[in-house]
Amino acid sequence: MKKIKLGIVGCGGIFKYAHLPAYKKMQNVEIVALCDIVEAKMEDPEFPPDAHRYTAWQDLINDPEVEAVDICAPNYLHSVVGVAALKKGLHVFTEKPDAISVSEMQKLIDAEKESGKVYMAMRNNRHLNVSKFFKQYIDEGKAGELYCGRCGIIRRRGIPGKGGWFTTKAQSGGGPLVDLGVHMIDLAVYFMGNPKAVSVSGCVYNKFANSDISDSVNSKFGEKKDDGIFDVEDLAMGFIRFENGACLQIEFSWASNIEKETAFLELRGEKAGLKFSYIPEDNRIYTEECGRLVDIAPRIPEPDGGHGQNLVHFIDVIQGNAKPDFTSEQGLNEMKILQAIYESAETGKEVIL
Ligand SMILES: NC(=O)c1ccc[n+]([C@@H]2O[C@H](COP(=O)([O-])OP(=O)(O)OC[C@H]3O[C@@H](n4cnc5c(N)ncnc54)[C@H](O)[C@@H]3O)[C@@H](O)[C@H]2O)c1
Repeated sequence: MKKIKLGIVGCGGIFKYAHLPAYKKMQNVEIVALCDIVEAKMEDPEFPPDAHRYTAWQDLINDPEVEAVDICAPNYLHSVVGVAALKKGLHVFTEKPDAISVSEMQKLIDAEKESGKVYMAMRNNRHLNVSKFFKQYIDEGKAGELYCGRCGIIRRRGIPGKGGWFTTKAQSGGGPLVDLGVHMIDLAVYFMGNPKAVSVSGCVYNKFANSDISDSVNSKFGEKKDDGIFDVEDLAMGFIRFENGACLQIEFSWASNIEKETAFLELRGEKAGLKFSYIPEDNRIYTEECGRLVDIAPRIPEPDGGHGQNLVHFIDVIQGNAKPDFTSEQGLNEMKILQAIYESAETGKEVIL
């Protein structure tokens, strides 16, 4: 079986704990090059010993062995490296968010179209087994029209890498809306059939930049920097209307004074309501059967998680064995929503897209 030769840009947490374990299980991939701006990050004994090591991503995309790039670097680099790699004729996978602004997203779309190569961004929620089940349930018409929903990831304390790139707007593009919101907003919109957003209203807050107890076990990612920057929100609230009349309420926080940390997505359909959860036994369908209200609890194991399955899908698409479940236009729609929430928060008005 032909192996796709991969180069990795950014060898931090998500590469080590999610991407690398997935690639190790795949027979049709070989990591031939690694890049991290910090040389020591590439010395991990678990990393492929024979892969070329680079500290500049420009050198990695010029490596003649590399056919595809997986970008696991801070958010602002996703479009910068992605566009350059597509222009070199490489396939590109990037971690989420797809880009840090609508204009950067547009550059990716233009480069994708010009290159004809595969471009894909991480949608790990879509690739969970339970999401595939919900999607089939919806596509078979069992939920009826999905006309509204609410989703959120609300941490009591869980700011990633406080002071580092996660909390620096120029490098991250935003706080929990960008970091966590992309996961649930994408899944909600995907389940709803990818309707176009037409108007957005939002508020964002930054109340925990100076708190000493802002970190928690719920922030496994990023490295703290004591004298660093914190110019992004720690809470984002919003309301999105779609062209088909559907709506979605959203709420994402890294820090909030609440009882319990939650991650949820609820969609209301005419025939059934759906509750998606990361806790497998909490997933539910609320409907009627034989004149009674019934709650259905799907029993679906998640042995590998969504990240690995998304990477398998990326390689399958490159090899022509699968049709992409992701389009960059969906990414653009999502990026417009995120940007409009910040714009609405700043102007105090609803933003028409
Ligand atoms: N899908 C998910 O569930 C998920 C979870 C966590 C993080 N992420 C995403 O993954 C990406 C990385 O996050 P992380 O948690 O691994 O962060 P991290 O800070 O642990 O790792 C980022 C790595 O990129 C390196 N880097 C920085 N600038 C670079 C440059 N110019 N060239 C090459 N390398 C550079 C850093 O040295 C670091 O090793 C982010 O975009 C984040 O949003 C996704």
